[in-house]
Parts: sequence; structure tokens; C-alpha cells
Amino acid sequence: MKDKTNKFYITTPIYYVNDKPHIGHAYTTIVADVLARFYRSQIGEDNVYFLTGTDEHGAKVAEAAAKEGLDPQAFTDKVSQSFKDAWVNLDIKYDRFIRTTDKQHKEIVTNILNQLKDKGVLYEGDYSGLYCIGCEKFILESELVDGKCPDHNKEPEKLFEKNWFFKLSEFLPKIKQAIESGDLVIYPETRKNEVLGLIKQGVADISISRSAKSVSWGIDLPWDDSQKTYVWIDALSNYITALGYPDGENFKKFWPADVQLMALDILKFHTLLWPAILMALDLPLPKLYIHGHFTLDGKKMSKSLGNVISPNDLVEKYGSEVAKYLILSQFSFGSESDIKVEEFPNKYNADLVNGLGNLVNRVTNMIEQYLDGQIDKSLFKNETIGDEEIKQLKFKEALSTIWLIIQNTNGMIEKEKPWELAKTPAAKEELRVILETLAAHLYKIALSLEPFMPKMSKEIIRILTEDKIKKPEQPLFPRLQ
Ligand code: MSP
Repeated sequence: MKDKTNKFYITTPIYYVNDKPHIGHAYTTIVADVLARFYRSQIGEDNVYFLTGTDEHGAKVAEAAAKEGLDPQAFTDKVSQSFKDAWVNLDIKYDRFIRTTDKQHKEIVTNILNQLKDKGVLYEGDYSGLYCIGCEKFILESELVDGKCPDHNKEPEKLFEKNWFFKLSEFLPKIKQAIESGDLVIYPETRKNEVLGLIKQGVADISISRSAKSVSWGIDLPWDDSQKTYVWIDALSNYITALGYPDGENFKKFWPADVQLMALDILKFHTLLWPAILMALDLPLPKLYIHGHFTLDGKKMSKSLGNVISPNDLVEKYGSEVAKYLILSQFSFGSESDIKVEEFPNKYNADLVNGLGNLVNRVTNMIEQYLDGQIDKSLFKNETIGDEEIKQLKFKEALSTIWLIIQNTNGMIEKEKPWELAKTPAAKEELRVILETLAAHLYKIALSLEPFMPKMSKEIIRILTEDKIKKPEQPLFPRLQ
């Protein structure tokens, strides 16, 4: 396949619909949105494809549906919609929202399974083991803590089933080679080394089906109706079914993915099973970007602990633009961190009210007062800051760079004291030069913020490009009470 440079395909994991969206899902989706917006401005709308969606089959979802007394389809319709709503609230602009219950997805998964069987990478075998429904995977005795899965605090179920298996172990040497040659990109470096370590230890073949008696909510195995497709095979395929694999125009244009985002909880599936499936299908390999799994006030976020933060609550309090800023500016991509929501109000007041908001007010107010709102707009350049950081997924760092300029520009006002110059008619030209420089800085700041805060960026640019610049009637960022 020829090298495709002028396109950008970005994906998030498809989220389980056993639970409502929380701030963890929001983080990955916001990151994808920022990158998609950034690349749209670089290479054009049509050359960017941003995919997200929901993972709707399997035992875990069926169990959650039963708990609510709903049939799985009605339940998944409802929860999937709550993800869509959350993304509307956060002003996430995706190109496609895929659901694994979509007809087209199910048909293509069937095609993929048939191909895998024809290529001879599947075989039938018996499985006995412990299955954790929360993880949707088999779990080893040695991984249990007090007989329970440590991540879900639940006893796994004992299974003895006839299943179909995928020869994952056969692909390991090829995956290792692909990682070493750079055909399979795993970022950051620490995760790549972790994967190489896993390969060295050896990884067993993986069962790709479950008995329809134990899991009824799933895609049929096309050649064996006693079996349903393992939810991870169904789920991983979404990244190509969404593009209309194998013949779709989008597939031809966009595959392989330029950025596949996830947290490290699902690293193994994406760095071993997914590349193996792609190799079996003779498809080129994607670039995988793994961020940290963050905690909330030191604890894992979970329904049972009741400490789940809904992105909707943050949007209600701060608006979508600020909510996204607060989430992205807390920690560096890839680091394991704790979200400190109690710090959000101070951060908001410091960075947005006193920082950016104040700068907009002062600059526009002085231009209105001292220059009758008139400046030379040819000073506005199409330049941005933070691009290199964004390309490397260093969002916190990109925002810090932008905020440093905000701070310096506010500092310049303190230093130059334009209000003093305004008292001296002879200093009129000097005053104009200073105010125009400030406006040009602000313009650059606004342009740079476009991927992160699209509405605010647009609003500041609108204010600065009016024939007659005026201080906004309402502050852009009202102080929190
Ligand atoms: N359905 C699977 C993914 C299939 S992709 C082919 C799944 N779903 S999930 O709902 O559990 O979503 C997991 C992903 O959500 C993580 O990999 C990460 O992107 C995001 N996050 C969920 N909780 C998170 C944190 N606490 N911290 C960071 N990201 C989090 O796994």
C-alpha cells in the first residue's frame, strides 16, 4: 500500500455500555477531538476521520441490561445515547459514532471471521478456565486476590466450554519484528518495552468465541451457531468496519490509523491481538498511543465506590470549553495521575478568569478607550504556538506554552502602563504600537487555542476583527461564586 501522508485517522476505544460515560472516557475522547480539530486545520476537513462509539455485546452488557430489567437492545440504545449526549455536551466533533449492534458492523465482522477461518488461523478446542465478566477476559489463578479479580472485586466464573481459538502465539515473532522495525508504533516508549516484555514471556492463544449457552448477546460465529463471537474480536474490528472494510472508500483512504488512543487497561488487546488480526488479514498496522489510567482523589473510579464524575456535571458548572481545559491541563498524556477536582475552581479563576479573560478585557477595553476601537489588523498573522507539542500528544505542555504567552502579555501591560501614556498626547504613536502589539499577541493566542477551545477561540477572533473593537459586555469567563 502506498504511503498516505495527507490524511489523519484517529480512534478512541469504543466504550462499554454497561455504565454511563465518566470523566475517564471523556479524557480519551477530548484528546481525540483536540487532535482531530488540529489536523483539520492543517490538512483540511475531508482528510481527517475521527471515530468513536460504543461496545455493546458480551456478558457484561447483557448482565447490566438484565439488572435494569431491559432487553439488551433497548438497554444499549439507551446507554449508547447517553455517550452521544455527553459528547454533544462537551462539543466533541467526531465523524462517525459506531455501535457494534449496527447492521453494517455485524456483517463485516462476519466477513472478517470467515476470512480468519479460511486463512487457517483459527482452530477448535476446549477451554477450561476462570472468566472475569468485568474484564471480559480469562483470568489466571495467580492474578486473583482473595479469590477475586482485583480490578472488579468479583469472583470470576469457572468455565468449561468448547471454543474456537485464534493462533495468537504464532504471530508473536512477527509482532516483535513489526515493533522493532517501526511498522507497529507503540507510544510511549515505556509501553512499547512493556509489550516487548510480554512477548518475551510468551502469550497463549486466545479463544475467539463463547458458547451461545453462556453468552447469548453477541454476533453468531458464521460456521457454528452454538458459538457467539468473543466480544473483543467484535470490538477491535470496529476500527475497520467503521471505514467500510474491505472495499469502502473511507477504508481505502484512511487505513491504517494514525492515532489509536486508549488507556493502559486495554493495552494487551490492542498491542497483541489487534496487530495479529490485522496481520492475518494482510493489512498494514496502526500507531497506538497509550495514556495513563487515572484515579480520582487517590481511588479508582467506579460505580460501586460511587466516586464517578460525570463530564455532564463539569460542563454544567464550567461550560464545555473550560471543562475540556481543566481536564487536559491537569496531567501529561501517558502519566499515571490523580484528578483533583477540588483544585478545579482555583485553576479556573487563575487561568481563565484572571489569565485569559482578564487579558481580553484589558486589551479590548484600552483599544476602545484610547484608539476609538481602531487598529491596524494587518498585524494579525496566521501563526500559532504549541503545534509541535500537540503533534507529540503533549497537550498539557501545549497549554502551558500558550498560558506562558498569556502571562507574559498580561505582564507587558503592567510594565508598559498604557494608561499612563494615554495621559500624554505626544505619546499617542507609542501607545498605538503597544496596543497593536498586545492585540496581535491575543490574536495568536486565540488561534492557538482553536483545537482546545473552539468556541472561545472563535469569539476572541470575532471581537478582535470587528471594525470597531469593543470590550465584551459580559466577561468571557465569569468569576465563580
Ligand atoms: N469496550 C472496551 C474497549 C474496546 S476498544 C476496541 C473497553 N471499554 S471501557 O468503557 O472500559 O473503556 C476503556 C477506556 O476508557 C480506556 O482505555 C480509556 O480510554 C478510557 N478510560 C476509562 N476510565 C479511565 C480512567 N480512569 N482513566 C483514563 N482513561 C479511562 O475497555
